[in-house]
This record gives sequence, structure tokens and C-alpha cells, in this order.
Amino acid sequence: MNLKQWMAFILLAVIWGSSYLWIKIAVGEMGPFTLVAFRLLFGAIFLLAIVLIRRPEFPKQKSIWASMAFVGLVNSAIPFVLISWGEIYIDSAMASILIGAVPLFTLFIAHWTLKDDRMTIAKILGLIIGFVGIIVLMSESLTGGSSQNSLWGQLAMLAAAASYAIGITFTRRRLSDVSHSVQALVSVIFADTFIWVATIGLESPIQLPEAPIVWWAVLILGFLGTGLAYRLFFYLIQSAGATKASMVTYVAPVVGVILGVAFLNEALTWQLILGTILVVGAVLVVNRSVSKKKFETKIRNTVKEIFMDKINIAEKFSQFDTHWDPKLLGELNGQHVKIVKLKGEFVWHQHEHEDELFLVVKGTLLVKFRDKDVELNEGEMLIIPKGVEHLPIAKDEVHLLMFEPVGTVNTGNVTTDERMVVELEQI
Ligand code: NI
Repeated sequence: MNLKQWMAFILLAVIWGSSYLWIKIAVGEMGPFTLVAFRLLFGAIFLLAIVLIRRPEFPKQKSIWASMAFVGLVNSAIPFVLISWGEIYIDSAMASILIGAVPLFTLFIAHWTLKDDRMTIAKILGLIIGFVGIIVLMSESLTGGSSQNSLWGQLAMLAAAASYAIGITFTRRRLSDVSHSVQALVSVIFADTFIWVATIGLESPIQLPEAPIVWWAVLILGFLGTGLAYRLFFYLIQSAGATKASMVTYVAPVVGVILGVAFLNEALTWQLILGTILVVGAVLVVNRSVSKKKFETKIRNTVKEIFMDKINIAEKFSQFDTHWDPKLLGELNGQHVKIVKLKGEFVWHQHEHEDELFLVVKGTLLVKFRDKDVELNEGEMLIIPKGVEHLPIAKDEVHLLMFEPVGTVNTGNVTTDERMVVELEQI
């Protein structure tokens, strides 16, 4: 990763990891419902701005709106209130780690409700390690020791983690076709409406905090935690890859522990250290065993929608000077859209399983076949069926756009040519 990506990574880990610190600060002066009501309000404002800029389509079916309301409840309203209430009684470091176990809960719930997530030995091992980690974290209060972390506070965190996991699984099953920003906005508005009603019912007269730091905490939770964090996350996925970006989910809980100990003087016990190692390790084991390709595709689709920006082909061509070195522009229906600059003679080859589409954007390309030659001028295209031997020749530089199935290698059956490119760079 380069410097810019590292900065995004660190900033993201701090935003996510610090949320338990801000909640701990805020619940010292305001009720948990009031805190969540304002946090969601600020989050909704940020998401509304994104929706106004991007103008994605809103779904029409009533059932999808009902699903988004449900997601708002289980993904925001319920866990936010549980975490805020729980943090009145437990340390922010402890909260950070217990919520860090969400992927373990998700795995468990997805196994019972989604057919595509099968248990493997590695996943079962991860679940056992994580369970031991949670027991270690809670051991002091479970045995009635002198812990300052109450059992009820810890159970609230576990209930919040389970609620998140239900939300994640449900979204995957019912809302995978709905625009990410619409889904986030609508569910947050539903969630905030519930919470305002609850706040007025349970915490009125509403007590507003006086210390500026508390307002900062709520603002940071709402704006940065909801909006900026996701932009950073998707920027990282797009520029550094999903595998590297997802590392931040292991780092964030650890950042939460460090911040709690450093700024709020929370106790760094051996149970906390060992529990952190076990839970983070378990999440790592579980995620590693999820099919990497499936994970990458899922993430890529989300990114595609968020970055649904137009592509200027001429501008993309200006970004590189190498010849016979295809660059990836995008992907659709299992096909890669690539551009490449050609100069000189390539190598006779054929593709056993893939048809290829050539569209000349600039210059004149000669494609030799065993029985004829075809000259392609600017704006002309050709589809070469699988199994047909061909030799592209560019007397002067040619800019070419291609459609080929994912995994097509430029040199086809010829694997000895030094111009063979297997891993494409996305630009
Ligand atoms: Ni070819």
C-alpha cells in the first residue's frame, strides 16, 4: 500500500475503533436513547447529502421498504441503544472487543439461514476460539469477581453483536439488489424515527449535554462513523483490494482497547489482553476460510454501484504508455472490459474457450488469420470466435478496447511469450 492508502487505513481504524470511546464519553452526560437519536439524526443528514448528489433509484415494492425498516431496527436502532446503555456499566475497551466478535455471530446465523455459507473445519475452529475468547473476557464478572464491568453490560454487547449479525445476514438475503446509499438512508431514517419516539417516551424531559466534548462525540459518531468511514472503506477496497481493506476490521477493535486504556484510564487486565487476541484471531481464522473469490466479487459489486461513475476512455489511455499490456476498465456479466496499446507484431495464438471482441479506438489494426487478413480502422470492431488462430499487427500505435471473459489470457494458448499478462491492473 502507498502512503495515501496507509493514511486512509489508519484514519478508518481510528474512526471505527474510537466509537466506543466517544459513546463512553457521551453516556456520562446524556441518556442512551437521546444519544442514539442524535447520532442517527446526524448520520441521516450525511447520507441524505450523498443520495442527493448520486440520485440513485428508490425501490417501489412495499416489501423492500418493510425490509429496510427491519434492517434499520436490527442494524442501527437496537444495537446502538444496547451498546450505549451497556457502556454505562462497562469499559469502552471491553465493548470494542465484544462487538469485534460480530463476524463470528454472522457466521453462526448465516449458517442456519443462508444455504451458501457452509461450515468448514476452519470455521468451526474459529467459532470455538472466539467463544473461549468471549468467556475469558467475561470471566471476572461471570465468577462474581471485583470487575468494574457488569455482567448485564457485557450481555448487552453480545445482544448488540447478535443483532448486527441478523441485520447483515438479512441484508445479504433480501436487499442485495437495492442501492447501498438508498438502503443506508432509508433504514437510518426508520431507525431514527423509532428512537425519537422511544426517547420521548422513556427519557423525557430530554436532558441535553452541556460539555462541548459530548457534542463533539455525538457529531463524530454521526458524521464520521456513518458517512466518511464508508467512503474510506470503499476507497481502500477499490485501490488496495478487499483483502487488505478488510484487515481494518481486525485492527479497529485493538485500536478501541488502546484508546480506552490511554484516554479513559481503563484497566488493562490479562483477561482483556488474552480475550482480545483470541477474538481477533478467531475472526481472522473465520474470514480466511470464506471463499476469497466469492468475497471479492461481493465487495466488487458494492464498489461498482458506489463508484458508478462514467469512464472516459481517452483519459484512461493517457494513463499508461506500455504496449501489449492490457489494463482493466471494468467488469460485467463475467466479462472484462480491457484497453490496450499495441505496437508491432504480436504472436500467433488462439483461445480455446473464449470469444474475443476487438474495437479499435485509434489507429489501424491488421488481424491476420490463417486464411485471410482483416483490417480494422477507427470505430470498427471484430469478434474472433474461440479456437480461431489469429495474429494482431499494429504498424503504428493502435488503441484497442476488448471484451473477454474474466480469466482470458492475452496470449491464449501460447504461454512462452514474455508479453503474456495474467494479473491485470485496474485503472
Ligand atoms: Ni487473442
